[in-house]
Amino acid sequence: KSKILFPKAIFTNNLLTGESVKCDTRKLSDLENIFLDKEAFRNMDLQQTVYNVNSLLPVKENTPGGLFFGITTIYPGKVGNEFFMTKGHFHSNLDTAEFYWGVEGEGMLIMMDMDRNVWAERMFPGSLHYIPGKVAHRVANTGYRKLVFSACWPSDAGHDYKSIAKDDFAMRLIEKNGVPVLIK
Ligand code: F6R
Ligand code: ZN
Repeated sequence: KSKILFPKAIFTNNLLTGESVKCDTRKLSDLENIFLDKEAFRNMDLQQTVYNVNSLLPVKENTPGGLFFGITTIYPGKVGNEFFMTKGHFHSNLDTAEFYWGVEGEGMLIMMDMDRNVWAERMFPGSLHYIPGKVAHRVANTGYRKLVFSACWPSDAGHDYKSIAKDDFAMRLIEKNGVPVLIK
């Protein structure tokens, strides 16, 4: 009765391949309200990819008890003095946590709790980050190469992008005198 099966997916060379793998691409044109410097934004190639997410969804969205796995690649770049970054979100199911871990390149994980306190953790190959429930999360690529990180989150977490679109993060990560700093 025993069977030997091929794995659900293969994660190699920062790419995920397999049956229930999907890939989403976020171009600069999808991120109009994310960046502060509107003038700089207008003068950029809006068709360029800022990041993509390769994810393995072995169960249906909202399944209690299941897990999702994703790999995000953020390309290097800035809009004005602000680093290329993800939209960022709270989970719709607020109590759900998530793991992020750095695979390649350098970046910063920016987190914000429900009282709008903001803090950040450096990301680098091997860095491991626990994002508690009720904490919004966004990642910026602060380096000159691709930033690749992986994530694992509950399949019933859901994504709430609206709160961030409406109220934003309380602080932003910009480059000042060659180093990343959080500003109000
Ligand atoms: C899943 C998760 C990541 C992000 C991805 C892109 O809960 O946090 O897989 O979805 O890094 O960022 P967003 O979703 O903020 O555009
Ligand atoms: Zn998340």
